[in-house]
Amino acid sequence: MKEKLRISGGVRLEGEISVSGGKNAALAIIPAALLADSPSTIENIPNINDVRVVIEMLKWLGATVDFRDNTLWVDPRNVDKYDPPYELATRMRASYYFAPVLLGLFRRAEVPLPGGCDIGARPIDQTIKGMATLGADVQTLGGILIAKADTMTGADIFLDMPSVGATVNSMLTAVSANGTTLIHNAAKEPHIVDLANFLSSMGASVKGAGTDVIRIRGGRPLHGTNYTVVPDQIETGTLMIAAAATGGDVLITDAIPVHMEALSAKLLEMGVNITSDDDWIRVRSNGRFRAVNVKTQGYPGFPTDLQQPLSALLTVANGNSIVTETIFESRFRFLDELRKMGANVRVIESSAIITGVDHLVGSRVNATDLRAGAAMVIAGLMAEGVTEIGGVGYILRGYERFDEKLRSLGAGIEKVTLNTDAY
Ligand code: EPZ
Repeated sequence: MKEKLRISGGVRLEGEISVSGGKNAALAIIPAALLADSPSTIENIPNINDVRVVIEMLKWLGATVDFRDNTLWVDPRNVDKYDPPYELATRMRASYYFAPVLLGLFRRAEVPLPGGCDIGARPIDQTIKGMATLGADVQTLGGILIAKADTMTGADIFLDMPSVGATVNSMLTAVSANGTTLIHNAAKEPHIVDLANFLSSMGASVKGAGTDVIRIRGGRPLHGTNYTVVPDQIETGTLMIAAAATGGDVLITDAIPVHMEALSAKLLEMGVNITSDDDWIRVRSNGRFRAVNVKTQGYPGFPTDLQQPLSALLTVANGNSIVTETIFESRFRFLDELRKMGANVRVIESSAIITGVDHLVGSRVNATDLRAGAAMVIAGLMAEGVTEIGGVGYILRGYERFDEKLRSLGAGIEKVTLNTDAY
């Protein structure tokens, strides 16, 4: 059975919508719960496919879990395996976060190399560097990351670039290493801070998350905790762009405005009206936009995960926009799909030159990765006519009830299941 999203464009989004918990925060926090000597309750977990895969991995490893109403209860006390299966681990990027956790529990871990969106080579050399610096013997053999360590000792880890994954894995290794670890050139994303807060709530000593240097005093016993995951920064941004793209008026609640500052600044530059306070952001637009230039950076710069959704909006801005992708080397493949809808885009090295057109035309397109899928939805919401988007699985991996949320704001969007057995 294949699923598609079918969108009738041109409808203004209006109303109020609540943001789900952070996918990339949850994917780092859930494995960390196995390091505790007692159960944890974690709230505001998005019910998305990537999270369901991680929960399957917890069960496979021996943990007892219960996941309902976006709350995960996990009892790690019966975990007795260090080698999660290939079929599960290769279904998403974050599965390798189990490697430092299982290494800390069993002094050994054998985790299949991660899958994830096809947006570049996505090497894990910095993760290996972090674990090895703390004393682990790490190698990759036959698509498996194999790590062993009799003892692990705190040390200085110098990351070559502020890699999110390597920062997460270095933090998850350091809490099991005796002594003090300093992670230099650390990523500063909101989900890094959320992981640090979660580890601290388990009794770990973690300081400096959100800055370039994170200091962890490891080797302490960690206990179960009650925790609530941070709102999803990228879902918030995607909803902001969708509201602007349709000339709408949308109130986004349960959000953290300060996490959105790079996007808000760009949307204001484009002529969109943004107001916000404590935990809400209101986006109003007249449907006309100035062209702008965007360059993706690590947090607090413009997030690479919002590059694709914003590029979709820039296809109808007034003038030429230059979008430079500095994080991933092939995150422009979705532009071919936007061209099918009438977008005027050229790619020169790591920049896309987008010349605004009057409007996009509904077409049959495909999602080439998670955030590309979000970009196609935004294009479909703006386009004249009907857009059908294949590859819906990508979108549902990362956005909880995405079509339902957009429908609640008035969008003409529906999920269509095609019985492909017939042809
Ligand atoms: C995380 O991916 C996110 N995934 C990505 O979100 C996000 O785009 C990315 O961080 C950047 O913010 C999860 O959190 C599960 P990186 P990650 O390590 O950890 C290079 C989404 O849509 N690099 O910061 O893989 C790498 O090739 C997904 O939710 C190395 O060279 O990102 C890339 O070009 C897509 N060696 C750049 O750094 C390494 O060892 C950033 O990668 C690690 C990374």
